[in-house]
Amino acid sequence: MDGNGRWARRRWLPRAAGHRAGVSVLTPLLETAGRAGVKTLTLYAFSTENWARPEREVKTLMKLFLDTAREKVPELNERGARLHFLGRRGHLPAPVLEALEEAENLTSGNDTLDVYIALDYGGRAEIVDATRRIVADGLSPEDIDEVTFARYLYAPDVPEVDLVIRTSGELRVSNFLLWQIAYAEFYVTDTLWPDFSPEEFVRALASFGSRSRRRGGV
Ligand code: FPP
Repeated sequence: MDGNGRWARRRWLPRAAGHRAGVSVLTPLLETAGRAGVKTLTLYAFSTENWARPEREVKTLMKLFLDTAREKVPELNERGARLHFLGRRGHLPAPVLEALEEAENLTSGNDTLDVYIALDYGGRAEIVDATRRIVADGLSPEDIDEVTFARYLYAPDVPEVDLVIRTSGELRVSNFLLWQIAYAEFYVTDTLWPDFSPEEFVRALASFGSRSRRRGGV
C-alpha cells in the first residue's frame, strides 16, 4: 500500500493523514475483489524494515492498525471475509496482536474472500523462520523439498501469488512474499495507494487476465 506519505506531502498534510486515507480505500477495494471472484488478497501493511521509521510514525501506524481492526472487522465478517495475520508475532504491541488474533478467530468460519494482513512481515524473515522450525523439527536433508518447505511458511495455506500490484511506481519487490511470488505477474502503477480506485483494480485484474503465463515452459 505504497505512496501514503507522498499523497500526504502533496497536500501539505502529515504522513499520518496519508495512512488514514490509505485505510479509507480498503472497503471499496475488498468489495471489488469479492465481486471480481478474487479468492485471496494480501495487504502489505507493515514490513520488518518499517520498524526503522521514526518512533512517532511507528506508534501512529500501530494505533491505526488497532483502530482499523476495531472499525472494519465486524463489517468484513458480515461480508464473509476470513482474516489472517501474516508475520512475526513477537514484536507487535500486545493490543494489536490481540485484535488480529480475535479477528482471525471471529472470521475463521467464513469463506468468501481470504484476506491476509502482512504486519511485521518480511519475506526473508519468513524463510529464516521456516528454516529454524524445520531444524527444530529434526528433518533430515532428504526430507526437504519445495512442498515440505512451503508447509513451514507463516501461512502454509496461502496459495501461490498470481498478481502483485505495486502502487506509487516503485519497481522493487521490497521483501514481499519472496517464496510465494516466484511466478507472480506484476502490475505497476504510478497511482499512490490512497488514490488506487476500484476501477484501476479492475484494470489490473484485466491486465493479469490478458497475460500468457508460461512458468518457464513454452
Ligand atoms: C506505505 O506508504 C504504507 C505503509 C507503511 C502503511 C500502510 C498501512 C495502512 C494503509 C493501514 C492499513 C491497515 C490494515 C489493518 C490493513 P509510505 O508511508 O511508504 O508512503 P511513501 O512511500 O509515499 O512515503
